[in-house]
Amino acid sequence: MYVKMIVKIDNVSKSYNKHLVIKAISLNIEKGERVVVLGPSGCGKTTLLRMVAGFIHPDQGKVIINGNVVTDNGKCIIEPEKRQVGMVFQDLALWPHMSNYKNLEFGLRAKKIPKMEMRKRIDEIFDKVQMAQFKNVYPGELSGGQQQRIALARALVMQPKILLMDEPLSSLDTDLSLTLRKEILRLQEELAITMIYVTHDREEAFSLATRIVVMESGRIQKIGTVREISEYL
Ligand SMILES: Nc1ncnc2c1ncn2[C@@H]1O[C@H](COP(=O)(O)OP(=O)(O)O)[C@@H](O)[C@H]1O
Ligand SMILES: [Mg+2]
Repeated sequence: MYVKMIVKIDNVSKSYNKHLVIKAISLNIEKGERVVVLGPSGCGKTTLLRMVAGFIHPDQGKVIINGNVVTDNGKCIIEPEKRQVGMVFQDLALWPHMSNYKNLEFGLRAKKIPKMEMRKRIDEIFDKVQMAQFKNVYPGELSGGQQQRIALARALVMQPKILLMDEPLSSLDTDLSLTLRKEILRLQEELAITMIYVTHDREEAFSLATRIVVMESGRIQKIGTVREISEYL
């Protein structure tokens, strides 16, 4: 049972300036799940995701990834880049001064991946997100949906075991959002990756999740299947 748990969030709390924003949250995530954290703006979704990624450390509690304690009562034990976690940020955070290719190459270089393999991995991911013709242009020359694909590619090229997505579609119009949801589902299945996806949008949650976590004011209100949560809400 335990080995199936790829992420275990254990009694985690976090304050900003004495204001408690994550209140003793516990959550277990199994390999291959698509967990969607659904809740209104300000309820703590981004903070929770960043604590899994390791960019923020909880004041209390533990985060365990793949059986390893990565953070324990305020102490970071495993650095973000060693957690095998990829993140797509709400504002994408693509580097504007680098071509799309270089945006993908950056993380691989830092990991000293050999040049041949680097090129192969980048080319494969560009194909997977259907952006092969845009390798040598800059993010600023792309549409919102295309930038989204590059942000996703940049996370995936690192071959993470867990993909964290922070409201990646919130700035896109409905049609584009629907298309990209399908793409995300396809990629998640093809790569058999575990996904934690954060949104305030119910429809988005229902269309993407294998399990939904309803969050409100720093607490988990309910966890259930799409069906259970659609009856609950
Ligand atoms: N760096 C920070 N410093 C102080 N307060 C913060 C910081 N980041 C987030 N908060 C506050 O913590 C709460 C949760 O924020 P956040 O995790 O961004 O929620 P969500 O992603 O659900 O909108 C909000 O009240 C927000 O204002
Ligand atoms: Mg947020």
